[in-house]
Amino acid sequence: MGDAFDKEFPLTDIVSISDFSRSSIEFVLQQADLMEKTPREKKLGLLKGKVVASLFFEPSTRTRLSFETAAHNLGASVVGFADAATSSTKKGETLSDTIRMVSGYADLIVLRHFIEGAAKRAAEISHCNVINAGDGSNQHPTQTLLDLYTIQKEFGKIDGLSICFLGDLKYGRTVHGLAYALAMFKKIKLYLVAPEVLKMPKAIVEEVGDRIEIVQGEKLEEFLPELDVLYSTRIQKERFLDLLEYERVKSVYVLDKKLLESTKESFRIMHPLPRIDEIHPELDATNAALYFKQAANGIPVREALLDILSRRGKA
Ligand code: NCD
Repeated sequence: MGDAFDKEFPLTDIVSISDFSRSSIEFVLQQADLMEKTPREKKLGLLKGKVVASLFFEPSTRTRLSFETAAHNLGASVVGFADAATSSTKKGETLSDTIRMVSGYADLIVLRHFIEGAAKRAAEISHCNVINAGDGSNQHPTQTLLDLYTIQKEFGKIDGLSICFLGDLKYGRTVHGLAYALAMFKKIKLYLVAPEVLKMPKAIVEEVGDRIEIVQGEKLEEFLPELDVLYSTRIQKERFLDLLEYERVKSVYVLDKKLLESTKESFRIMHPLPRIDEIHPELDATNAALYFKQAANGIPVREALLDILSRRGKA
């Protein structure tokens, strides 16, 4: 479409956070802030007449509903499915065929799929912009952007923070993307706390470790006093090949109020949700609980992404 957005934001699809630069991330965060401050009546024209296709091949509550709400808030119509069993996938249609066809109906596709690399493939085939809403255990870039937005809003900065990822760092796509993103910022200290079988993949640790300080361990207690953010994650049961292994690690880290005895005043807990038993509800009413605000931030961030991509058009 060729306006100022092309320079600030060179991407036409959102597939991986690694495709972003620090400045394109910051651009999204600024636009999200603008969206948050703009009343709905003033935004309704932004995607008027556009169709957003929301294709979810895996379960979702927050991501799908916040994308669809964001699309409605900007005046778009939404088509799609929340359960692939109701689509022609059930009859054996390939993802490529579904995407080729839907990209003829819609102006933008939001795709969640269980296969790693599905969004990349879809972006190659599609005639319209594609947004990755999670591809297997690979990435979830819009979650990464809303996580960064949440940190930026809460602390007024991202540089210089000490952040700990806790739980399933092997299969958890949110922490994979966030690790790559944090490596674009300065003086981050990243603690990775997980049981041996759920450690962050080596390739990510190596790549990110070249740029920021990484400390790995299995015990959380010793790191707590230093932390600004504790990013807790669900053990991703659906990705285990061996369910006995899941049983062995399932409730390994459960956060409760006791942990606040050794943390800073400004310490905050994040979680992409859904939680199972990782965070005791007794923490919900404390100042440390940032996870519900984090989920709410999905709306302005996704509004910003839909708006930016609709202006960009497809290459
Ligand atoms: C996450 C996901 O789907 O990766 N949820 C989300 O999008 N907010 C985390 C999870 O399912 O554990």
